[in-house]
Amino acid sequence: MKILITGGCGFIGSHTCVELQNAGFDVVIADNLSNSTDKVIDRIEKITGKRPEFIKADLSDALECNKVFDTFGGITGIINFAASKAVGESMEKPIMYYKNNLGILLNVLENMQKHGIKYFVQSSSCTVYGEPDKLPIKESSPVKDATSPYGHTKQIAEQMLGFITSSSDIRAVALRYFNPIGAHPTALIGELPNGVPNNLLPFITQTAAGIRKELKVFGNDYPTADGTCIRDYIHVVDLAKAHVVAMNRMIENKNKKALEFFNIGTGHGYSVLEIINSFERSTGEKLNWSFAPRRAGDIIQIWADTEFAEKELGWKALEDIDSMTSSAWKWQQMLGENK
Ligand code: WQD
Repeated sequence: MKILITGGCGFIGSHTCVELQNAGFDVVIADNLSNSTDKVIDRIEKITGKRPEFIKADLSDALECNKVFDTFGGITGIINFAASKAVGESMEKPIMYYKNNLGILLNVLENMQKHGIKYFVQSSSCTVYGEPDKLPIKESSPVKDATSPYGHTKQIAEQMLGFITSSSDIRAVALRYFNPIGAHPTALIGELPNGVPNNLLPFITQTAAGIRKELKVFGNDYPTADGTCIRDYIHVVDLAKAHVVAMNRMIENKNKKALEFFNIGTGHGYSVLEIINSFERSTGEKLNWSFAPRRAGDIIQIWADTEFAEKELGWKALEDIDSMTSSAWKWQQMLGENK
């Protein structure tokens, strides 16, 4: 069976391609390479021995999106990663974020209807919950008003899928990611942020590699045990495997609703300082860091209630925090060797 991955050259998309191939699927990747490189295709082939098909396409352009579906027949399902995803950038360019993220979604869903493709996995985010009132956070926890256009596009996407799946044959699973970090154990694929990293782990590994001078820890006066923010970090390989489970759930007709939501986290929250400790413990590297003022928009703490994903989806994260931080470092070192 063939799965189309939109944004499949990206961080989570490339790892999901590997796990789909490992599970016996054929894969087509459509990506505009705006935040990735097609060198990833060679690396995926090196890992699995199978080369995914690839087409460069801006899926927010209806004609280019149509061409993807006219070129590749026999697609069983779609996994949709293609989107702009920088919270800060979305505050400066809201119209671009709505146009791009929702435009891609609409073009892909329209083509699914046209070509009779039924199964759709949506890349969603714990961002939809905002600052939780109660922890751990369940799928039934309230979705709060978005605090950024990026988070708003994730919420709107879920609402659109609600109406579209209830009035068509399309079945969908929205996976609400927590904080994906780490890299494939081969260190052949990983996170490759453009420019100065927004996210914690790539900033840590680039600091340890001497690319950045010092990690700034944004705030040490939060109401948490050590004063720094807490997140549910999940190994990208565990996250990738969840996509295969979600797609198979629909193919095997086990989904109980036309649209289902699952929190994809580990159920453990780690503070920024605990991540730094894990990185130093798992790599032996000493990290240069200091405290800085809070970052606007940061929520204090969030971690997943994983019971529904474990019981209903039959999926559980297996990798521990040191495996996440050490794999991120191995990937950064490989990048340094392959300048
Ligand atoms: C984690 C913690 C920072 C950088 C975002 C998006 C989310 C998802 C993941 C796409 C926070 C602290 C960070 C630094 C720091 N993206 N930090 N110094 O903000 O939880 O989530 O990325 O889907 O949607 O919102 O992740 O890695 O940016 O920050 O102290 O240089 O690390 O304050 O507490 P975040 P993050």
